[in-house]
Amino acid sequence: MKRFHTSIQLYNCIHQGAEFLIARKNEFQNDILKEMNSEGIYEPPKALAFISPSKIERIPQEEYDQLVEPYREAMTRLEVRMNGLNEDYRKKYRDYPIHNIQARIKSRKSIEKKLASKNLPVTAYTAKDNLTDIAGIRVICYFVEDIFSILSLVKTQTDLLILKESDYIHYPKDSGYKSYHMVLGIPVYRIEGMQYYPVEIQFRTLAMDLWASMEHRICYKGDTPDETTDAFRNYSGELSEMERRMKHLLDEIRRDNPQEPMQ
Ligand code: GTP
Ligand code: MG
Repeated sequence: MKRFHTSIQLYNCIHQGAEFLIARKNEFQNDILKEMNSEGIYEPPKALAFISPSKIERIPQEEYDQLVEPYREAMTRLEVRMNGLNEDYRKKYRDYPIHNIQARIKSRKSIEKKLASKNLPVTAYTAKDNLTDIAGIRVICYFVEDIFSILSLVKTQTDLLILKESDYIHYPKDSGYKSYHMVLGIPVYRIEGMQYYPVEIQFRTLAMDLWASMEHRICYKGDTPDETTDAFRNYSGELSEMERRMKHLLDEIRRDNPQEPMQ
């Protein structure tokens, strides 16, 4: 059985034929299951161990534009797919699980900064080989239950690969951060064939998004006083509790008014 040691090898493998694709997807996902840690978080093997001593400070604008073009396409495809799933869900269950979707391509500056922080040469080539968050979408749902409903739909999409999965909802970070992260491989077609491009997808509830946005603004990756860190750890629990109570209110309203219109 051919094993991919880095997700990059997988993206670079040009596939032909749907059967081969599905077989390779299952093979890769079995490997992923084996590599889940005790918290159920997939930890991929480190891509490209070499660190060149050369320090190139900037990626030329033209190279950046060329680098991000297929990622932009992959990101748009995923965004359209998520909107489609939201619509289908509404038709079937008379409910919208998704409140809104945000999409972004990592800026040239952020790519350069991240490569430098990993002690990697600052080039478009190393960015493609080492970063899986050049394209990212954030899916904001109403309630935790909505996240897991939409997740189960994503997992039925046979053309998408799950390259990495981190459940910070059942296993929040020490900071109190909650979200469900995935890196999906999205097929992008060019005349040379098809390649998978990674798109990072973060699923959050509105309450988790409020917490993450405020914490990012006030303390994330900065010098934060202990009291502030403690306060945010508590807010995370308080917001989850508030969200749970609101869900309870909604369930009660729906029980009493089964025809309650959905948005
Ligand atoms: P990065 O190098 O930061 O991308 O980390 P990673 O590749 O190990 O991924 P991880 O799953 O830890 O988080 C990636 C993204 O999740 C970050 O870029 C943030 O958007 C978000 N995130 C993770 N932890 C926190 C946190 O404690 N607070 C906030 N506000 N956001 C977080
Ligand atoms: Mg990131």
